[in-house]
Amino acid sequence: MQEKSPAVGAATAKIFHLHVILFSVFLLPLETSAAGVASDTLNNGGNLTDGSTLVSAGGSFTLGFFSPGSPSKRYLGIWFSNSTSAVVWVANRDSPLNDTAGVLVISGATGELLLLDGFGQAAWSSNTTTGAGPPPSEAQLLESGNLVVRGRSSGDVLWQSFDHPSNTLIAGMRLGRNPRTGDEWSLTSWRSRSDPTTGDYRNGMGPGGLPAIVTWRGAAKKYRSGPWNGAWFNGVPEMTSYSSMYTNRLVDKPDEVAFVFDDAAAGVPFCRLVLNEAGVVQSLVWDQATQAWNALAQSPRDVCDDYAKCGAFGLCNVNTATTLFCSCMAGFTPASPSRWSMRETSGGCRRSTPLECGGGDGGAGTTTDGFVAVRGVKLPDTDNATVEMGATLEGCRARCLANCSCVAYAAADIRGGGAGSGCLMWTGGIIDARNVDKGQDLYLRLAKSELGKQKSNEYQKKAVLRSFRNSHELFERNIEFPFLNFEDVVASTNNFSDSNMLGKGGFGKVYKGMLGGGKEVAVKRLSTGSTQGVEHFTNEVVLIAKLQHKNLVRLLGCCIHGDEKLLVYEYLPNKSLDYFLFDDSKKSMLDWQTRFNIIKGVARGLVYLHQDSRMTIIHRDLKASNILLDEKMRPKISDFGMARIFGGSEQQESTKRVVGTYGYMSPEYAMEGIFSVKSDTYSFGILLLEIVSGLKISSPHHLVMDFPNLIAYAWNLWKDEKQRDFVDTLVIDNCSLSEVFRCIHIGLLCVQDSPNARPLMSSVASMLDNEGVPCPVPNQPIYFVQRHHEAEEQGKYLEKSVNNVTLTMLEGR
Ligand SMILES: *[C@@H]1O[C@H](CO)[C@@H](O)[C@H](O)[C@H]1NC(C)=O
Ligand SMILES: *[C@@H]1O[C@H](CO)[C@@H](O)[C@H](O)[C@H]1NC(C)=O
Ligand SMILES: *[C@@H]1O[C@H](CO)[C@@H](O)[C@H](O)[C@H]1NC(C)=O
Ligand SMILES: *[C@@H]1O[C@H](CO)[C@@H](O)[C@H](O)[C@H]1NC(C)=O
Ligand SMILES: *[C@@H]1O[C@H](CO)[C@@H](O)[C@H](O)[C@H]1NC(C)=O
Ligand SMILES: *[C@@H]1O[C@H](CO)[C@@H](O)[C@H](O)[C@H]1NC(C)=O
Ligand SMILES: *[C@@H]1O[C@H](CO)[C@@H](O)[C@H](O)[C@H]1NC(C)=O
Ligand SMILES: *[C@@H]1O[C@H](CO)[C@@H](O)[C@H](O)[C@H]1NC(C)=O
Ligand SMILES: *[C@@H]1O[C@H](CO)[C@@H](O)[C@H](O)[C@H]1NC(C)=O
Ligand SMILES: *[C@@H]1O[C@H](CO)[C@@H](O)[C@H](O)[C@H]1NC(C)=O
Repeated sequence: MQEKSPAVGAATAKIFHLHVILFSVFLLPLETSAAGVASDTLNNGGNLTDGSTLVSAGGSFTLGFFSPGSPSKRYLGIWFSNSTSAVVWVANRDSPLNDTAGVLVISGATGELLLLDGFGQAAWSSNTTTGAGPPPSEAQLLESGNLVVRGRSSGDVLWQSFDHPSNTLIAGMRLGRNPRTGDEWSLTSWRSRSDPTTGDYRNGMGPGGLPAIVTWRGAAKKYRSGPWNGAWFNGVPEMTSYSSMYTNRLVDKPDEVAFVFDDAAAGVPFCRLVLNEAGVVQSLVWDQATQAWNALAQSPRDVCDDYAKCGAFGLCNVNTATTLFCSCMAGFTPASPSRWSMRETSGGCRRSTPLECGGGDGGAGTTTDGFVAVRGVKLPDTDNATVEMGATLEGCRARCLANCSCVAYAAADIRGGGAGSGCLMWTGGIIDARNVDKGQDLYLRLAKSELGKQKSNEYQKKAVLRSFRNSHELFERNIEFPFLNFEDVVASTNNFSDSNMLGKGGFGKVYKGMLGGGKEVAVKRLSTGSTQGVEHFTNEVVLIAKLQHKNLVRLLGCCIHGDEKLLVYEYLPNKSLDYFLFDDSKKSMLDWQTRFNIIKGVARGLVYLHQDSRMTIIHRDLKASNILLDEKMRPKISDFGMARIFGGSEQQESTKRVVGTYGYMSPEYAMEGIFSVKSDTYSFGILLLEIVSGLKISSPHHLVMDFPNLIAYAWNLWKDEKQRDFVDTLVIDNCSLSEVFRCIHIGLLCVQDSPNARPLMSSVASMLDNEGVPCPVPNQPIYFVQRHHEAEEQGKYLEKSVNNVTLTMLEGR
């Protein structure tokens, strides 16, 4: 009988939806059929060699050897027969065999299931022991996908694969633990799509409070489902919508606290829950008609699912008008308002008025504190909360009030309205609360004087929300803007001496200066030609100076003297990104962590410019040389708002000035002079690809590794799943491949030809910050591939005027 080649798997994979291919293209088990009828059972004394398989009685599952990545790494696993890429269990995930000599046997002596290499050495063992009894007789792959080892006489299950999950939960499996034995059922991610090695993420039942599913990365919590409320996990209301597909049961017994995943009924589509390599749990349903896995749901699903994003007493809400998703709970204010306004919200909130509790007789009974309801939330982390199963909600209120360390309470079980079936009480901090559909009420303890304020606060908040501008102004400090003495500033630069020159940009030269007190500054001398009157100029400068963000270079002041206009900026000692990135001798100072921090910082700075400042600022000339680095190599965007200061308005396409740099300019900007926040997204994408690859975009006459340009190069490697080859060789050996690959993916999303297809920078920032946020599939870039061929024919720069916008650009014909 002839063996089918692995290409059979590839052909099957081709008809999957694209998003499914992303998860599956590496997974091509060697599809083979053993001579004769495939059996579901391995008897003691028999063996299963590489190339043969066990197939469950109804044909749903197959057990055999496969290589998801390198063919020299062979694994034993179980997969869904109709979708060979859907591997549900792997035996030797951390000890692959290096050839096809592996064989699965049942040890006659000990009764263990053993995976032996070509030398008879065990690469993996089930570690079953039969104790005093006789060795087991057989291993059987059940139609449920469970591989069980049975004892000879009793038929007892001695070992089963369902008790040792890999990254996948299928019907009949559970997540949880046995509090008596300490045994656990949890999922651990693969290292990558092509590498089943135990990865960074684990998903299982949380340790304390009410039962809740938690995802950890190492020891750190990344995601929490919220407590079981009697019917669903409080933070995952969508669970209720899929009850026709599968059921979620909670078992809470002395020897088992577990979440059990079951098909709703026989004949429903096949479902699996997978903890993927990015730490996201996806619910996938097999559609036999389209031969594809459809994603029903995932967790985490958005930025507010980031564990403890808003810190203690913070509340996260994704449906806000700005990217400041965090607010403080009623009666609390940001612990550090300045950090908070810069989106560093993990520091949380502090109480505006101290509780009265604690005075007098040991704190009990006399307090005049009360409670305010925080409505519709995923309840805070319950690890340290006290669970009172018998109590009524009224009883809990009294109990909480009587105990000074109690800061909040809530119903533990919402069935029957939640009034009578127990409650949760929190002491100390309240963490990881968010607004959620079908959320619960959390009763938060406040001082009496605070309670009175809450009504008027609620009114004020609504008023502020009505006025988008106002809500921003609340965060903006009313700064005194310094107009500096012209002579002082000029003298500080040694009268604009060449030795003080730091660089030269589109708007003029930049000099290093030293102001009184030894303060180092960068002075930009605007070239003459500014169309702005003095009043307009100062107005714009004052506005731009109000933009303060840790990833923006700060404008400190300005001076005007006749035709001369100077802008004074904070000085950054470590030059700009291009100085390091494109210099072979300095490149190595940018390790992956530094690069990734630069990428994320630039994204945050752009989000602030686009969305969070009181006006929308489009940078229009984002590039490596405009990213300055501070002493800790943290990025700060420079040259933003220049079009406003120099002349023209951001909102109208009417500037006469060319802004933009070849390669970084989006097609629509370069061709038609149309710019928008999406042209910045494009430039950011280019920058991202440069940072990852260490290659420069602006070399129009040079092929990049045989591709017409960097985008085409990135696209082709990404499409062929060879992203690794795109990465700068200086960082590849010491970086998180999942981060790097994700960056390439996001870069390709940003450089899509259609501005509408490109994500907003706020989405880019959340995709970068949270591996759980899904990335759409990018479209193939066309523009630069074509443009470049034209450019090669012409090989020259031309000036072109479109709608009175003059652009210096590569011109086609
Ligand atoms: C596997 O079974 C075959 C045929 O029964 C036998 O020749 C071979 O020695 C066995 N291999 C091992 C490792 O037990
Ligand atoms: C495979 O691994 C064994 C040790 O387990 C080693 O002796 C052998 O040389 C390896 N073979 C190859 C082709 O790397
Ligand atoms: C079996 O036991 C060995 C030795 O204690 C251990 O290294 C191995 O991880 C165990 N295997 C499994 C599958 O638990
Ligand atoms: C698997 O494929 C077979 C044949 O194409 C089909 O009859 C069966 O229903 C499929 N199984 C599932 C679970 O979709
Ligand atoms: C629970 O208490 C421990 C010990 O004080 C603390 O380390 C941990 O952060 C607390 N967890 C939560 C969720 O508050
Ligand atoms: C208050 O609650 C904490 C935590 O549940 C508990 O340890 C403490 O004993 C309680 N104090 C009183 C006076 O009930
Ligand atoms: C700068 O120019 C001023 C006025 O022309 C002159 O007095 C001063 O000496 C110059 N300073 C330097 C360092 O050249
Ligand atoms: C790898 O990167 C980490 C973090 O950037 C750094 O601390 C470590 O020294 C690097 N290791 C090597 C071998 O370069
Ligand atoms: C960055 O600047 C700081 C302070 O001037 C300096 O100590 C550090 O060496 C610089 N780093 C690089 C990579 O130049
Ligand atoms: C271009 O500028 C000229 C002169 O400033 C003006 O007359 C003309 O109307 C402008 N055209 C457009 C399309 O704005």
